[in-house]
Amino acid sequence: MARLKVAVLISGRGSNLQALIDACADADFPAGIVLVISDVPGVQGLSRAGKAGIPAAVVDGKDFEGRDRFEDALTGTLLEAGPELVCLAGFMRVLGDGFVGRWRGRLINIHPSLLPAFKGVHVHERVVEAGVRISGCTVHFVRPAVDDGPIIVQAAVPVHADDDADALAARVLSQEHRIYPLAVRLIAEGRVRVVDEHVLIDGAAIPEGALVNPVDG
Ligand code: GAR
Repeated sequence: MARLKVAVLISGRGSNLQALIDACADADFPAGIVLVISDVPGVQGLSRAGKAGIPAAVVDGKDFEGRDRFEDALTGTLLEAGPELVCLAGFMRVLGDGFVGRWRGRLINIHPSLLPAFKGVHVHERVVEAGVRISGCTVHFVRPAVDDGPIIVQAAVPVHADDDADALAARVLSQEHRIYPLAVRLIAEGRVRVVDEHVLIDGAAIPEGALVNPVDG
C-alpha cells in the first residue's frame, strides 16, 4: 500500500518531528514524510530533517509582507511536495482562515494540554498555576479558531505537587511523542472520520479505568 505523504511544519526544536521521523523509519508505518518546512531559519528541527535525508525548506515569516503572502508561499512550497496530510509540530504561528480552509481535513496540530483547556501559549506555567492535578496533550484537526477543532487523540499525565513548568512539560512531551505518530497512523489507515465536528475512529479500542491523582491511600 502507498504510504500517506506527510509534510511537517515546525518552528524550533522539532522533537515531535523526530517522533514522526522515527515512526516513519519503520517500513510498516503507513505514512512517510515528504517535506519539512520551518518558518524560522537555523532551528534544530531542520537538522533533524537533514540527518534523516528528508527535504526541508525555510519559509521565513520575516521575508513576507503580511500573513496572506507568507501563507501563499507556504502553500506554494507545500504543493511542490504534494502532501496528503500537513502536521503542525511546534509551529508557533497562528494560521489564517484561507490557509486553514484550503487544507481543511488534511491539517492537524499537536497542543500540550487537554484541549479545550489551556489553549494558547505558556500552557504548562498556567497549568501549574491553576493547580490542576491532571494535564496532557491533544492531537486535533485544525480549524480557524486557535487550538480548536475535532480531537483525534489525547493522553493524560498527572501533575505532581512539586512540578514546575519544565518538569510538567517533559512529562507531557514524552506523551506527545507517542500520540502524534498514533494519530498519523490512524489517519493513514483511513480509520479517522469527522462527523458533526467529532472524530470517530474505526476499530479503536477505548481503555477502561481512570487516571486518578492523588492515588487514595
Ligand atoms: C510541543 O510541546 C508542542 O505541543 C508545542 O510546542 C512544543 C514543540 O516542541 N506546540 C504548541 O504549543 C502549539 N500551540 P518540539 O518542537 O520539540 O516538537
